[in-house]
This record gives sequence, C-alpha cells and structure tokens, in this order.
Amino acid sequence: MPLIEVENVRKVYKMDGVEFEALKGVSFTVEKEEFVIIMGPSGSGKSTLMHILGALDVPTSGKYILNGKDITSMTRDELARVRNKNIGFIFQGFNLLPRMSALENVELPMLYAGLPAGERRAKAKQALDLVGLLEWADHRPNQLSGGQQQRVAIARALVNDAPLLLADEPTGNLDSKTGVQVMETLTYLNSERGITIVLVTHDSGIARYGKRIVRVLDGMISSDMPEEQVTMG
Ligand SMILES: Nc1ncnc2c1ncn2[C@@H]1O[C@H](COP(=O)(O)OP(=O)(O)OP(=O)(O)O)[C@@H](O)[C@H]1O
Ligand SMILES: [Mg+2]
Repeated sequence: MPLIEVENVRKVYKMDGVEFEALKGVSFTVEKEEFVIIMGPSGSGKSTLMHILGALDVPTSGKYILNGKDITSMTRDELARVRNKNIGFIFQGFNLLPRMSALENVELPMLYAGLPAGERRAKAKQALDLVGLLEWADHRPNQLSGGQQQRVAIARALVNDAPLLLADEPTGNLDSKTGVQVMETLTYLNSERGITIVLVTHDSGIARYGKRIVRVLDGMISSDMPEEQVTMG
C-alpha cells in the first residue's frame, strides 16, 4: 500500500470573486521510504500541493489517500489527528519558538499530544541526538546557526514518530554548505530510519539528494523520473 495516493486533485482559489486553478488534476503516488523531490517555477503550485499532502488544506476535487485513509472527506478534528500521527513539517523559516531551548522546541508536539513530562524529555533528547545536536539541547534558536536551527526543526518534526516528512524549501534560507548538512541529515533519516520524504526545492544541487524528481508546471505534473535519469540528462 502506497503512503500517498493523489488522484486527479484540483485546487481552485477564489479571490475577490475571481477563480484561479492552482492545481489542474494532479495524480501520483509515493511509496513508503521514498525520497521525492518536487521542483518547478515560482507559482507553479508546489506549496499548494504540499499543503494538501500535509492535510493543511483540502482539494477542491479529486482524492487523497494517506496511509490507506481517504482524507478528502474528513472533518477538521480528524484531519488534525491524521496530521499529528503521520506528518512532520519543516519550512524554509525554521519556525522555532525563540524563547525556548532547542530541547523545549522539540518537546512541543508531544506536549500537544499529551505525553507525560519525563517521556517528553527522553524522546526529545533522542530526536536531538538523531540529528546530531544533543550537545546543543540547552541553546536557544538565536544561539544556533541556521543549519543547526533547521536540524532542531527536523527533530521536532520527527519526535511524534511520523512516517512522513514534508519539507517546503528547507534549505532556502541556508548557504549551500549548511544546506548540504541539512540534506545529509535528511538522507540519513530516509535511508537508515525509513522516513518517507517529500521535499520542494529550486536548487538542482539539493535535488540530487532525492531518489525521484517530480516536476510541476502550471498546476500539472510535467515529468516524474528517478534522480539518476535526471542527472544523466
Ligand atoms: N491562498 C491563496 N489564495 C489565492 N491564490 C493563491 C493562494 N495560495 C496560492 N495561490 C496562487 O496559486 C498559485 C500557486 O501558488 P504556490 O504557492 O503553490 O506556488 P509555488 O510553486 O509554491 O511557488 P514558489 O516557488 O514561489 O513558492 C500562485 O499563482 C498563487 O498566487
Ligand atoms: Mg512555494
């Protein structure tokens, strides 16, 4: 059973009475443990698609089956539960809380999930260790480099044991060397921990870390192929 099944998904935004079709019938599947890169020009619909994959938004029409569950017909509460259980998010801007330590930031999703304090602490430490930042647990975000902050965000995304990690331009705010460190962390999580990753990037150097590249153009998938075929041209 695939982890993600998207079937003929359309997304229409309405603004001031004017309709805009941001996704025009997108279909694809992602198997467990894949590492998929999404590329495409600005405005082509990548973030719109990621919001739908992340159950942060629903399609106007079409079907989305996540981990065997049709989520197109779920209520807000059901969607929130599905998100919490299945999906970790990382964003371009890290989205860490500035007054909290790295450890406390990683603990947050478990606080929302209602885990006891001792368990929260232990799991947060484990997650920070996984991204190589256990020594930095007590530092606040502004005492960490951009790459370290993004890795804290990765630890936070994974601490609820979500099988799926969605990343929208996670290296967009990082210099290329730091971006590479973040990609190496993600590669490790994918190949050693079996985390399924879907990642949006503009950067073809970053895209090389994926195993499959899906290109989005004007609200449609224009190509979908294994990474090695892309680099071979
Ligand atoms: N909430 C919204 N309301 C109306 N239109 C929107 C909304 N979100 C996105 N759009 C429009 O949908 C299209 C696709 O936007 P989207 O954010 O998915 O693009 P993108 O591929 O992520 O671009 P970028 O690379 O710049 O991040 C754009 O034309 C955008 O203006
Ligand atoms: Mg975007």
